[in-house]
Parts: sequence; structure tokens; C-alpha cells
Amino acid sequence: MASLVEHAPQTAEQTEWLVREIQRLREERKAVLLAHNYQLPEVQDVADFVGDSLGLAQAAARTDADVLVFCGVHFMAETAAILCPDKTVLLPDLEAGCSLAATITAEQLRAWKREHPGAVVVAYVNTTAEVKAEADYCCTSTNAVKVVQSIPEDEEILFVPDFFLGSYVARVTGRRLHLWMGECHVHAGFRPEDVQDKQRAYPEAELLIHPECGCVTSCMYFLASGALPQDRTHILSTEGMVRRARASDAEAFLVATETGILHRLRKEVPGKTFLPVREDAVCQYMKRITLDKVYRSLRDGVYEVRVEPQVAARARGAIERMLAVS
Ligand code: 13P
Ligand code: SF4
Repeated sequence: MASLVEHAPQTAEQTEWLVREIQRLREERKAVLLAHNYQLPEVQDVADFVGDSLGLAQAAARTDADVLVFCGVHFMAETAAILCPDKTVLLPDLEAGCSLAATITAEQLRAWKREHPGAVVVAYVNTTAEVKAEADYCCTSTNAVKVVQSIPEDEEILFVPDFFLGSYVARVTGRRLHLWMGECHVHAGFRPEDVQDKQRAYPEAELLIHPECGCVTSCMYFLASGALPQDRTHILSTEGMVRRARASDAEAFLVATETGILHRLRKEVPGKTFLPVREDAVCQYMKRITLDKVYRSLRDGVYEVRVEPQVAARARGAIERMLAVS
């Protein structure tokens, strides 16, 4: 069975062996497996906790495990390493990056801050530790509105790096935000017509839209003008989508975000129908984390994610300010 660690499992027997080994090693290493909602179904199924960016940060902050295996992307593992400096944080594949986090560097943010002296910086959690260290507040899609509302109205705010989330927050709060022009290549691909076409095909379904989507500002306009049903359209984080699906009376949902969330929705809200607005909305970075890599990560203690202590101390301030608001 040793060859399994070099290749993704092909058979049900190989998968079962990997799951058993992961469970055994998890006990042995006093490890916890944290998985984002966009992870592969088999990775979600073996995890101790599956959630959105905020839930994962909170789970990392409260765990008493010695080792955290982060089934997600690099910035998420860094956030866990910042919150748990005395624990070992492992990312099973260092190539699990994020196109959105890559749209801004700490140097670019410092230059932008020099153009707006005294401005408050709100950084979406999809940023590197160095960028978070330059920020006053972190936020996730769950709490971005709350974080901005917690900042006094007379403060100038720089919002990085997601333009679509920033535009959404600006509209909901009525605040004038300076927005960085970053985007996630998966979410930016959602066009207003994708949502409208699906909505016409399934008029009774509820629409669940992630605020990183390229269609979000147009959808807010459609909502205001009545072109989309106000009572059946919700702009939510991935965890918000799971909560909404549980609470709603609707039987069918159209989901505008990365398709990994569909596994969790179908598993936790059985009996209801969940359809992707775009089937090709797949994050190749999230999908780099496979069962065999999780196994190897636990077995060999790879790949440890560390954040330089001075950077971590500054970034922790921004993350803790966010957690206090959440
Ligand atoms: P949430 O799961 O926090 O809504 O974030 C989505 C995302 O794109 C994470 O990379
Ligand atoms: Fe980054 Fe987009 Fe992938 Fe989320 S879906 S990890 S924002 S590239």
C-alpha cells in the first residue's frame, strides 16, 4: 500500500485504507483536520470540522490539538498559524494558493496607504500574512459588513483585495470605500446572465450568491428593480448558505459559488435540491488537497506553515479585531 502516497486512490478499497490510516494517524499525532467548504467530498468527509473561512479561523483558535492539518489553501493555514503559534500547522500541498490573495502584496498595500495617510485598512482574510500585518482589521465574507459598520463613519477606509465583495459591502453599509481591484478567478466568472438564465429555468428555486461573485453588484440592482425575487435571493458566505438552506421552506436552490459547497449542502440538508449556477466554478487550488496528500501530511509532518513572529504579531491584531466584532 506504500505506493498510495504517490498517487490519488483509484479504488474504493484504497480509499478505505487511506481513511483508516488518516484516522489512526490523527489519534497518534493528536491532530485535528480542518476543511473548507470547497474541499473534495472525500476530504470533507474525513475532516473533524468543515466550514467557511470564519468558522475555520474560530475552530483553529479554540482547538487543543497539537497538530492542525489544514485542508484548504495557504492563506487559511497561515491564519491558523498566526492564531496558534504554539501548534504545528500543516498544509498537505504548498501549491494550494489563491488567485485573489495573489492580487496584492504588502509593498503594494504600503504604497496605497502612503497615498491615504490615516486611512483604516480592512483586509479580506484571502490575503497573505504580510498583507494582514499591514491591515487594521481582517474580515471574511460572513462579517465584512459588520466589520465596516464597526468603524466610525468619519474614517476613510481602504478595502483589499476583493473588488466585488468590497462593492457589496459599500452598497449594504452605504459607506464610501476605496476598493482594490482584485478578484478571484473562480467567482469573477459568474456573470449576471448566468444567474438570470438559471433563475428563469427554475423560477421557484431560491438563489444563494457568494459576495465574491462578479455578478453581485448587478444582482443587487436586479433585486432593487424587482428583476430578481427579493424573498428568494440571498447574498451569503458559504456557511450562510448552509444555514439558509436548513432554515428555508424552499425545496430547490441555485448556488452561485465554487461547486465544492454542493457536497456539504446535499449531505447536511437532505431531501432538497441544490444546483450549481455554473458547473465549471471549480477552484483548482482547493482541489489540490487530496486524501493521499492528507495521509502523507499526517505521516510525514508536511508541509509546516510558519509565519515570522513579528509579522504574525501584527497580523494577529487585525484577525483578533475581526473575531471580536464577529
Ligand atoms: P467563505 O467560505 O468564507 O465564504 O469564503 C469563500 C472563499 O472563496 C474562500 O476561499
Ligand atoms: Fe482563492 Fe477563489 Fe480559490 Fe477561494 S475560490 S481559494 S478566493 S482562488
